Amino acid sequence: MVGLDDPDDAAVWKLDEQRALVVTTDFFTPVVDDPYDYGAIAAANALSDVYAMGGIPFLALNIAALPPDLPPQISGEILRGGAEAAHQAGVVIAGGHTIQDKEPKYGLVVIGFVHPQHFLSKRGAKPGDKLVLTKPLGFGTTTTALKQGKAEPQDIAEVVGWMKKLNKTASEIAVQLQLTTATDVTGFSLLGHAWEIANLSLVGLHFDFQAIPFISCARKYGEEFIFPGGSADNRLYYSEYVDFSSSISEAEQMLLFDAQTSGGLLLVVPAEKINRLEEKAQELQQPFWVIGEVTNTQRIKVD
Ligand code: CO
Ligand code: CO
Repeated sequence: MVGLDDPDDAAVWKLDEQRALVVTTDFFTPVVDDPYDYGAIAAANALSDVYAMGGIPFLALNIAALPPDLPPQISGEILRGGAEAAHQAGVVIAGGHTIQDKEPKYGLVVIGFVHPQHFLSKRGAKPGDKLVLTKPLGFGTTTTALKQGKAEPQDIAEVVGWMKKLNKTASEIAVQLQLTTATDVTGFSLLGHAWEIANLSLVGLHFDFQAIPFISCARKYGEEFIFPGGSADNRLYYSEYVDFSSSISEAEQMLLFDAQTSGGLLLVVPAEKINRLEEKAQELQQPFWVIGEVTNTQRIKVD
């Protein structure tokens, strides 16, 4: 049902009238120093693409590439972090494969179930719908500051906490509200992933900059222009679709192009469902921010 033609967050394969499989994989090099946190973040990030489709993950496989001289207690901690994140998601890790490589890489293959008529995709956004984000931004700039040895310990703890957080509850709320359109905010940044929704739904998007949440240190590192390479690529690639108001500084623009790891879901919510979303989110203690709305201009506007 979903494959290479219009790539979405995960592939969807219909089994019967009630069930479809959601299949995805993701792995990357360490984003933080602590091996346990790295494993947990990589697993949360891989699971996220199933959640972005409104699916329920149930089975996973480890994919790892580890240096031959890496102490076994470190590789053990990476896998333990991944296993505990999977357990939190109700997912069984049933095997996997490890090869040797100079730079560590870790992630998961994840399989989930979704209803073949009720999965979330990047299509279906309609003018007037609200844009809702479920984690703040600033993970790329902060983890890059960490790599450069410039990040404060409390900033690292804050970004690690958010990156380890599963998108499970946010996805469950989206499914309960019978939303049609969502994605997760990862390497292509808020604006890049938002553009995929705009492009596939044939709509435009308007973001209210003041309403967009950032982790507390994001502006500090952003103003020093500490960004991962992917953020500059995002800006180069997606700028032509975006109109910024003159009040948005260069650093603020870059923060919206910042490549995220294990970012939140970007949900497209019909205006009449915002109250129910608020109730559900409060009940389940799921943070969320209404950051803009869908327009009919086929452009992204930020003011
Ligand atoms: Co995704
Ligand atoms: Co992915």
